Amino acid sequence: MHRFNTAVFGTGFVGRVHLEGIRRLGFVHVYAIGESNAEKARKLGEEFHVDKTDSDYHKILEDPAVDAVHVCTPNILHFPMVRDALQAGKHVICEKPLSTSVEQAAQLVALARQTGRRNCTFHNLRFYPLVQQMRRMREAGDLGEILVVQGTYSQDWLLYDTDWNWRLDSKANGRSRCLADIGSHFCDMAEHVTGARITSLCADMQTFHKTRKRPKGPVETFAGKTLAPEDYQEVEIDTEDYGGVIFRMGDRTRGAFTVSQVSAGRKNGLSIEIYGSKAGVAWNQERPDELWIGHRNTPNQIIIKDPSLLKEAARPYADLPGGHSEGYDDTFKQVFRRFYQSIDDPSAEPQYPQFADGLRQLQILEAELASADRRAWVDVPAFQPG
Ligand SMILES: NC(=O)c1ccc[n+]([C@@H]2O[C@H](COP(=O)([O-])OP(=O)(O)OC[C@H]3O[C@@H](n4cnc5c(N)ncnc54)[C@H](O)[C@@H]3O)[C@@H](O)[C@H]2O)c1
Repeated sequence: MHRFNTAVFGTGFVGRVHLEGIRRLGFVHVYAIGESNAEKARKLGEEFHVDKTDSDYHKILEDPAVDAVHVCTPNILHFPMVRDALQAGKHVICEKPLSTSVEQAAQLVALARQTGRRNCTFHNLRFYPLVQQMRRMREAGDLGEILVVQGTYSQDWLLYDTDWNWRLDSKANGRSRCLADIGSHFCDMAEHVTGARITSLCADMQTFHKTRKRPKGPVETFAGKTLAPEDYQEVEIDTEDYGGVIFRMGDRTRGAFTVSQVSAGRKNGLSIEIYGSKAGVAWNQERPDELWIGHRNTPNQIIIKDPSLLKEAARPYADLPGGHSEGYDDTFKQVFRRFYQSIDDPSAEPQYPQFADGLRQLQILEAELASADRRAWVDVPAFQPG
Protein backbone atom coordinates (compact mmCIF):
# COMPACT_ATOMS: atom_id res chain seq x y z
CA MET A 1 0.00 0.00 0.00
CA HIS A 2 1.32 3.48 -0.89
CA ARG A 3 1.56 6.16 1.75
CA PHE A 4 -0.67 9.08 0.83
CA ASN A 5 -0.51 12.74 1.85
CA THR A 6 -3.83 14.42 2.40
CA ALA A 7 -5.20 17.87 3.23
CA VAL A 8 -8.28 18.83 5.25
CA PHE A 9 -10.11 22.02 4.27
CA GLY A 10 -12.20 23.38 7.14
CA THR A 11 -11.47 22.17 10.67
CA GLY A 12 -14.68 22.91 12.56
CA PHE A 13 -16.89 20.18 14.00
CA VAL A 14 -16.64 17.65 11.20
CA GLY A 15 -13.18 18.63 9.92
CA ARG A 16 -11.69 17.52 13.21
CA VAL A 17 -13.52 14.18 13.01
CA HIS A 18 -12.05 13.74 9.51
CA LEU A 19 -8.60 14.58 10.81
CA GLU A 20 -8.81 12.01 13.59
CA GLY A 21 -10.37 9.41 11.29
CA ILE A 22 -7.65 9.76 8.66
CA ARG A 23 -4.96 9.22 11.29
CA ARG A 24 -6.52 5.88 12.26
CA LEU A 25 -5.71 4.43 8.84
CA GLY A 26 -1.94 4.20 9.19
CA PHE A 27 -1.12 4.65 5.49
CA VAL A 28 -2.50 8.20 5.10
CA HIS A 29 -0.69 11.21 6.52
CA VAL A 30 -2.49 14.48 7.32
CA TYR A 31 0.00 16.71 5.55
CA ALA A 32 -1.87 20.01 5.37
CA ILE A 33 -4.77 21.99 6.81
CA GLY A 34 -6.62 24.68 4.83
CA GLU A 35 -8.59 26.71 7.37
CA SER A 36 -9.63 30.36 7.11
CA ASN A 37 -9.30 30.81 10.87
CA ALA A 38 -5.50 30.98 10.98
CA GLU A 39 -5.21 30.70 14.76
CA LYS A 40 -7.39 27.59 14.88
CA ALA A 41 -5.36 26.08 12.03
CA ARG A 42 -2.09 26.82 13.77
CA LYS A 43 -3.21 25.23 17.05
CA LEU A 44 -4.62 22.13 15.39
CA GLY A 45 -1.59 21.85 13.13
CA GLU A 46 0.68 21.82 16.16
CA GLU A 47 -1.49 19.33 18.04
CA PHE A 48 -1.56 16.89 15.12
CA HIS A 49 1.97 17.54 13.82
CA VAL A 50 0.65 18.61 10.42
CA ASP A 51 3.39 19.74 7.99
CA LYS A 52 1.68 22.91 6.78
CA THR A 53 -1.36 25.07 7.44
CA ASP A 54 -2.70 27.91 5.29
CA SER A 55 -5.75 30.14 5.46
CA ASP A 56 -5.79 30.17 1.62
CA TYR A 57 -6.63 26.68 0.34
CA HIS A 58 -5.29 27.52 -3.14
CA LYS A 59 -1.75 27.51 -1.75
CA ILE A 60 -2.21 23.94 -0.53
CA LEU A 61 -3.58 22.82 -3.89
CA GLU A 62 -0.40 24.13 -5.57
CA ASP A 63 1.69 21.66 -3.56
CA PRO A 64 2.38 18.48 -5.60
CA ALA A 65 2.94 16.52 -2.38
CA VAL A 66 -0.82 16.60 -1.67
CA ASP A 67 -2.57 13.53 -3.09
CA ALA A 68 -6.11 14.09 -1.81
CA VAL A 69 -8.32 16.69 -0.17
CA HIS A 70 -11.19 16.45 2.34
CA VAL A 71 -13.64 19.36 1.91
CA CYS A 72 -15.25 20.08 5.32
CA THR A 73 -16.28 23.73 4.96
CA PRO A 74 -19.74 25.38 4.87
CA ASN A 75 -21.83 24.12 1.93
CA ILE A 76 -21.48 27.14 -0.34
CA LEU A 77 -17.69 26.57 -0.49
CA HIS A 78 -17.94 22.94 -1.59
CA PHE A 79 -18.33 23.72 -5.29
CA PRO A 80 -15.31 26.03 -5.75
CA MET A 81 -13.07 23.95 -3.46
CA VAL A 82 -13.92 20.62 -5.14
CA ARG A 83 -13.61 22.13 -8.63
CA ASP A 84 -10.22 23.66 -7.81
CA ALA A 85 -8.98 20.47 -6.14
CA LEU A 86 -9.96 18.28 -9.12
CA GLN A 87 -8.37 20.75 -11.53
CA ALA A 88 -5.20 20.60 -9.44
CA GLY A 89 -5.20 16.80 -9.92
CA LYS A 90 -6.23 15.86 -6.36
CA HIS A 91 -8.58 13.05 -5.34
CA VAL A 92 -11.48 14.50 -3.35
CA ILE A 93 -13.78 13.55 -0.48
CA CYS A 94 -16.45 16.22 -0.12
CA GLU A 95 -18.84 16.55 2.78
CA LYS A 96 -22.54 16.46 1.98
CA PRO A 97 -24.30 18.20 0.37
CA LEU A 98 -21.93 18.03 -2.63
CA SER A 99 -22.96 21.56 -3.64
CA THR A 100 -25.94 23.85 -3.34
CA SER A 101 -27.49 23.15 -6.75
CA VAL A 102 -28.07 20.29 -9.20
CA GLU A 103 -26.25 22.26 -11.89
CA GLN A 104 -23.07 22.62 -9.82
CA ALA A 105 -23.17 18.99 -8.70
CA ALA A 106 -23.52 17.84 -12.33
CA GLN A 107 -20.45 19.93 -13.22
CA LEU A 108 -18.46 18.24 -10.46
CA VAL A 109 -19.53 14.76 -11.59
CA ALA A 110 -18.39 15.63 -15.13
CA LEU A 111 -15.10 17.12 -13.92
CA ALA A 112 -14.32 14.07 -11.78
CA ARG A 113 -14.95 11.84 -14.80
CA GLN A 114 -12.77 14.06 -17.01
CA THR A 115 -9.85 14.21 -14.56
CA GLY A 116 -10.14 10.53 -13.59
CA ARG A 117 -9.76 11.37 -9.90
CA ARG A 118 -11.41 9.35 -7.14
CA ASN A 119 -14.41 11.19 -5.75
CA CYS A 120 -16.59 10.62 -2.71
CA THR A 121 -19.63 12.45 -1.33
CA PHE A 122 -19.45 11.82 2.37
CA HIS A 123 -22.65 9.95 3.14
CA ASN A 124 -20.87 8.13 5.95
CA LEU A 125 -23.99 6.96 7.77
CA ARG A 126 -24.31 4.04 5.35
CA PHE A 127 -21.19 2.63 6.98
CA TYR A 128 -22.58 1.66 10.38
CA PRO A 129 -22.26 -2.14 10.59
CA LEU A 130 -25.98 -2.65 11.28
CA VAL A 131 -27.02 -0.40 8.39
CA GLN A 132 -24.97 -2.71 6.20
CA GLN A 133 -26.67 -5.66 7.90
CA MET A 134 -30.10 -4.25 6.92
CA ARG A 135 -28.89 -3.85 3.36
CA ARG A 136 -27.53 -7.40 3.19
CA MET A 137 -30.71 -8.83 4.73
CA ARG A 138 -32.72 -7.09 2.02
CA GLU A 139 -30.32 -8.38 -0.68
CA ALA A 140 -30.65 -11.92 0.67
CA GLY A 141 -34.45 -11.67 0.44
CA ASP A 142 -34.92 -11.90 4.23
CA LEU A 143 -37.30 -8.92 4.19
CA GLY A 144 -39.27 -9.97 1.11
CA GLU A 145 -40.73 -7.29 -1.12
CA ILE A 146 -40.15 -3.82 0.39
CA LEU A 147 -43.54 -2.27 1.11
CA VAL A 148 -43.03 0.67 3.49
CA VAL A 149 -40.01 2.87 4.34
CA GLN A 150 -40.43 5.42 7.12
CA GLY A 151 -38.49 7.42 9.62
CA THR A 152 -37.12 10.71 10.79
CA TYR A 153 -33.91 12.64 11.27
CA SER A 154 -34.63 14.84 14.28
CA GLN A 155 -32.31 17.10 16.27
CA ASP A 156 -32.85 19.85 18.84
CA TRP A 157 -29.74 22.04 18.58
CA LEU A 158 -31.57 24.86 16.75
CA LEU A 159 -34.73 24.81 18.91
CA TYR A 160 -34.29 28.29 20.45
CA ASP A 161 -34.18 31.55 18.53
CA THR A 162 -30.86 32.21 20.26
CA ASP A 163 -29.30 29.10 18.67
CA TRP A 164 -27.06 30.07 15.76
CA ASN A 165 -24.96 28.42 13.08
CA TRP A 166 -23.93 29.33 9.50
CA ARG A 167 -26.49 26.73 8.29
CA LEU A 168 -29.28 29.19 9.19
CA ASP A 169 -28.01 31.66 6.61
CA SER A 170 -28.76 30.70 2.99
CA LYS A 171 -25.72 32.64 1.80
CA ALA A 172 -23.40 30.13 3.52
CA ASN A 173 -25.73 27.13 3.46
CA GLY A 174 -27.83 27.26 0.27
CA ARG A 175 -31.62 27.57 0.27
CA SER A 176 -32.48 24.39 2.19
CA ARG A 177 -31.22 23.60 5.68
CA CYS A 178 -32.90 20.54 7.25
CA LEU A 179 -33.73 18.71 4.03
CA ALA A 180 -30.24 19.33 2.59
CA ASP A 181 -28.29 18.77 5.80
CA ILE A 182 -29.98 15.75 7.36
CA GLY A 183 -32.75 14.82 4.90
CA SER A 184 -30.01 13.94 2.38
CA HIS A 185 -28.58 11.40 4.87
CA PHE A 186 -32.03 9.83 5.36
CA CYS A 187 -32.71 9.54 1.61
CA ASP A 188 -29.22 8.20 0.90
CA MET A 189 -29.72 5.52 3.55
CA ALA A 190 -33.24 4.65 2.40
CA GLU A 191 -32.08 4.15 -1.19
CA HIS A 192 -28.88 2.35 -0.18
CA VAL A 193 -30.60 -0.15 2.10
CA THR A 194 -33.67 -0.84 -0.05
CA GLY A 195 -31.84 -0.76 -3.39
CA ALA A 196 -34.87 1.15 -4.68
CA ARG A 197 -34.99 4.76 -5.86
CA ILE A 198 -37.31 7.57 -4.85
CA THR A 199 -39.32 8.25 -7.99
CA SER A 200 -41.71 10.99 -6.86
CA LEU A 201 -42.48 12.93 -3.70
CA CYS A 202 -44.59 15.52 -1.97
CA ALA A 203 -42.89 17.84 0.53
CA ASP A 204 -43.86 20.40 3.15
CA MET A 205 -41.53 22.77 5.02
CA GLN A 206 -41.76 25.13 7.95
CA THR A 207 -39.55 27.85 9.40
CA PHE A 208 -40.80 28.30 12.97
CA HIS A 209 -38.37 31.10 13.83
CA LYS A 210 -38.83 33.74 11.13
CA THR A 211 -36.16 35.75 12.91
CA ARG A 212 -33.30 34.62 15.14
CA LYS A 213 -30.73 36.26 17.34
CA ARG A 214 -27.41 36.08 15.56
CA PRO A 215 -24.24 36.20 17.69
CA LYS A 216 -21.95 39.08 16.87
CA GLY A 217 -18.93 36.71 16.72
CA PRO A 218 -18.47 33.30 14.96
CA VAL A 219 -19.94 30.12 16.52
CA GLU A 220 -18.91 26.57 15.69
CA THR A 221 -21.49 23.83 15.09
CA PHE A 222 -23.23 22.59 18.31
CA ALA A 223 -21.30 25.24 20.33
CA GLY A 224 -23.80 28.12 20.66
CA LYS A 225 -25.19 27.49 24.17
CA THR A 226 -22.79 29.67 26.13
CA LEU A 227 -23.53 33.23 24.86
CA ALA A 228 -25.15 36.17 26.77
CA PRO A 229 -28.08 38.37 25.44
CA GLU A 230 -25.85 41.35 24.58
CA ASP A 231 -23.82 39.13 22.22
CA TYR A 232 -26.69 38.90 19.66
CA GLN A 233 -28.41 40.82 16.84
CA GLU A 234 -31.89 40.03 15.33
CA VAL A 235 -31.86 38.68 11.71
CA GLU A 236 -34.45 37.22 9.30
CA ILE A 237 -34.26 33.47 8.59
CA ASP A 238 -34.81 31.99 5.11
CA THR A 239 -33.97 28.30 5.72
CA GLU A 240 -36.38 25.67 7.08
CA ASP A 241 -36.48 24.29 10.65
CA TYR A 242 -38.63 21.32 9.57
CA GLY A 243 -39.38 19.26 6.48
CA GLY A 244 -41.91 16.48 5.90
CA VAL A 245 -41.86 14.28 2.79
CA ILE A 246 -44.05 11.46 1.54
CA PHE A 247 -42.55 9.53 -1.34
CA ARG A 248 -42.96 6.70 -3.81
CA MET A 249 -40.26 4.22 -4.78
CA GLY A 250 -41.61 2.89 -8.06
CA ASP A 251 -45.10 1.45 -8.48
CA ARG A 252 -45.58 -0.23 -5.11
CA THR A 253 -43.14 0.84 -2.37
CA ARG A 254 -44.31 3.83 -0.32
CA GLY A 255 -42.56 5.94 2.30
CA ALA A 256 -42.49 9.02 4.49
CA PHE A 257 -39.99 10.89 6.65
CA THR A 258 -39.61 14.08 8.64
CA VAL A 259 -36.52 16.15 9.36
CA SER A 260 -36.27 18.72 12.13
CA GLN A 261 -33.70 20.71 14.05
CA VAL A 262 -36.22 21.86 16.66
CA SER A 263 -37.27 18.51 18.23
CA ALA A 264 -36.57 18.83 21.96
CA GLY A 265 -34.55 15.93 23.28
CA ARG A 266 -33.55 14.45 19.94
CA LYS A 267 -29.81 14.98 19.55
CA ASN A 268 -28.93 13.15 16.38
CA GLY A 269 -32.07 11.05 16.00
CA LEU A 270 -31.93 9.34 12.64
CA SER A 271 -34.27 6.39 12.76
CA ILE A 272 -35.32 4.30 9.81
CA GLU A 273 -37.88 1.52 9.58
CA ILE A 274 -38.22 -0.74 6.57
CA TYR A 275 -41.14 -3.14 6.32
CA GLY A 276 -41.14 -5.97 3.80
CA SER A 277 -43.60 -8.73 2.94
CA LYS A 278 -41.62 -11.19 5.12
CA ALA A 279 -40.06 -9.09 7.94
CA GLY A 280 -39.30 -5.57 9.13
CA VAL A 281 -36.11 -3.89 10.37
CA ALA A 282 -35.67 -0.73 12.44
CA TRP A 283 -32.44 1.08 13.33
CA ASN A 284 -31.72 4.23 15.33
CA GLN A 285 -28.46 6.17 15.06
CA GLU A 286 -28.52 7.01 18.78
CA ARG A 287 -28.32 3.25 19.55
CA PRO A 288 -26.21 2.19 16.56
CA ASP A 289 -25.20 -1.26 17.78
CA GLU A 290 -28.81 -2.50 18.02
CA LEU A 291 -31.03 -3.70 15.19
CA TRP A 292 -34.70 -4.52 15.67
CA ILE A 293 -36.06 -7.26 13.44
CA GLY A 294 -39.83 -7.59 13.33
CA HIS A 295 -41.75 -10.79 12.53
CA ARG A 296 -45.43 -11.47 12.08
CA ASN A 297 -45.64 -15.02 13.43
CA THR A 298 -42.62 -15.41 15.71
CA PRO A 299 -41.25 -13.15 18.48
CA ASN A 300 -39.42 -10.02 17.36
CA GLN A 301 -35.64 -9.85 17.81
CA ILE A 302 -33.09 -7.24 18.82
CA ILE A 303 -29.63 -8.15 17.62
CA ILE A 304 -26.46 -6.55 18.97
CA LYS A 305 -23.64 -5.83 16.55
CA ASP A 306 -21.33 -8.81 16.50
CA PRO A 307 -19.29 -9.43 13.34
CA SER A 308 -19.54 -13.19 13.76
CA LEU A 309 -23.35 -12.95 13.60
CA LEU A 310 -23.58 -10.50 10.69
CA LYS A 311 -24.14 -11.43 7.06
CA GLU A 312 -20.79 -12.13 5.45
CA ALA A 313 -20.97 -9.02 3.25
CA ALA A 314 -21.71 -6.78 6.26
CA ARG A 315 -18.87 -8.19 8.36
CA PRO A 316 -16.02 -6.06 6.90
CA TYR A 317 -17.86 -2.94 8.17
CA ALA A 318 -17.34 -4.00 11.80
CA ASP A 319 -13.78 -3.92 13.11
CA LEU A 320 -14.43 -4.84 16.75
CA PRO A 321 -15.88 -7.99 18.33
CA GLY A 322 -19.45 -8.18 19.64
CA GLY A 323 -20.25 -5.97 22.62
CA HIS A 324 -17.51 -3.46 21.72
CA SER A 325 -19.44 -0.48 20.42
CA GLU A 326 -18.75 1.09 17.01
CA GLY A 327 -20.23 4.50 16.40
CA TYR A 328 -20.26 7.69 14.36
CA ASP A 329 -16.51 8.28 14.15
CA ASP A 330 -15.92 4.66 13.10
CA THR A 331 -17.99 5.27 9.97
CA PHE A 332 -15.37 7.86 8.94
CA LYS A 333 -12.58 5.31 9.18
CA GLN A 334 -14.64 2.80 7.15
CA VAL A 335 -15.18 5.28 4.28
CA PHE A 336 -11.61 6.60 4.31
CA ARG A 337 -10.08 3.12 4.21
CA ARG A 338 -12.11 2.20 1.12
CA PHE A 339 -11.47 5.56 -0.52
CA TYR A 340 -7.68 5.45 -0.18
CA GLN A 341 -7.53 1.76 -1.11
CA SER A 342 -9.31 2.69 -4.34
CA ILE A 343 -6.62 5.31 -5.08
CA ASP A 344 -3.99 2.65 -4.48
CA ASP A 345 -5.74 0.23 -6.85
CA PRO A 346 -7.05 2.21 -9.86
CA SER A 347 -8.90 -0.88 -11.16
CA ALA A 348 -10.98 -1.26 -7.96
CA GLU A 349 -14.71 -0.55 -8.01
CA PRO A 350 -15.46 2.24 -5.53
CA GLN A 351 -17.10 0.86 -2.38
CA TYR A 352 -18.36 4.28 -1.19
CA PRO A 353 -20.81 6.97 -2.33
CA GLN A 354 -19.40 9.01 -5.19
CA PHE A 355 -20.18 12.48 -6.56
CA ALA A 356 -22.96 10.86 -8.61
CA ASP A 357 -24.62 9.99 -5.29
CA GLY A 358 -24.19 13.60 -4.17
CA LEU A 359 -25.82 14.78 -7.39
CA ARG A 360 -28.61 12.29 -6.75
CA GLN A 361 -29.34 13.84 -3.34
CA LEU A 362 -29.44 17.32 -4.88
CA GLN A 363 -31.96 16.09 -7.46
CA ILE A 364 -34.13 14.78 -4.65
CA LEU A 365 -33.70 18.07 -2.79
CA GLU A 366 -34.62 20.11 -5.86
CA ALA A 367 -37.81 18.03 -6.21
CA GLU A 368 -38.58 18.59 -2.51
CA LEU A 369 -38.20 22.36 -2.84
CA ALA A 370 -40.29 22.46 -6.01
CA SER A 371 -42.96 20.32 -4.37
CA ALA A 372 -43.12 22.51 -1.25
CA ASP A 373 -43.27 25.67 -3.40
CA ARG A 374 -46.06 24.30 -5.62
CA ARG A 375 -47.82 22.27 -2.90
CA ALA A 376 -47.85 19.37 -5.36
CA TRP A 377 -46.29 15.96 -6.15
CA VAL A 378 -43.05 16.17 -8.16
CA ASP A 379 -41.18 13.43 -10.07
CA VAL A 380 -37.52 12.78 -9.27
CA PRO A 381 -35.17 12.05 -12.22
CA ALA A 382 -33.69 8.55 -12.53
CA PHE A 383 -30.28 7.97 -10.91
CA GLN A 384 -27.35 8.41 -13.31
CA PRO A 385 -24.17 6.55 -12.28
CA GLY A 386 -21.05 8.78 -12.57
N1 LIG B 1 -21.27 13.69 7.31
C1 LIG B 1 -21.59 14.17 8.49
O1 LIG B 1 -21.96 13.43 9.40
C2 LIG B 1 -21.49 15.66 8.75
C3 LIG B 1 -21.61 16.17 10.05
C4 LIG B 1 -21.46 17.54 10.25
C5 LIG B 1 -21.22 18.37 9.16
N2 LIG B 1 -21.15 17.86 7.91
C6 LIG B 1 -20.89 18.75 6.76
O2 LIG B 1 -19.57 19.28 6.92
C7 LIG B 1 -19.51 20.64 6.50
C8 LIG B 1 -18.95 21.50 7.64
O3 LIG B 1 -19.85 21.47 8.72
P1 LIG B 1 -19.37 21.74 10.23
O4 LIG B 1 -20.54 21.40 11.05
O5 LIG B 1 -18.08 21.05 10.49
O6 LIG B 1 -19.15 23.31 10.21
P2 LIG B 1 -18.26 24.19 11.21
O7 LIG B 1 -18.80 25.55 11.15
O8 LIG B 1 -18.12 23.52 12.53
O9 LIG B 1 -16.82 24.18 10.51
C9 LIG B 1 -16.56 24.82 9.27
C10 LIG B 1 -15.08 25.21 9.23
O10 LIG B 1 -14.78 25.72 7.92
C11 LIG B 1 -13.92 26.86 8.10
N3 LIG B 1 -13.95 27.69 6.91
C12 LIG B 1 -14.89 28.61 6.55
N4 LIG B 1 -14.53 29.20 5.39
C13 LIG B 1 -13.35 28.64 5.00
C14 LIG B 1 -12.47 28.82 3.88
N5 LIG B 1 -12.73 29.71 2.92
N6 LIG B 1 -11.33 28.07 3.83
C15 LIG B 1 -11.04 27.18 4.79
N7 LIG B 1 -11.83 26.97 5.87
C16 LIG B 1 -12.97 27.69 5.97
C17 LIG B 1 -14.46 27.53 9.36
O11 LIG B 1 -13.52 28.43 9.93
C18 LIG B 1 -14.73 26.32 10.24
O12 LIG B 1 -13.58 25.95 10.98
C19 LIG B 1 -20.93 20.99 6.05
O13 LIG B 1 -21.01 20.91 4.66
C20 LIG B 1 -21.82 19.95 6.70
O14 LIG B 1 -22.97 19.64 5.95
C21 LIG B 1 -21.29 16.53 7.70
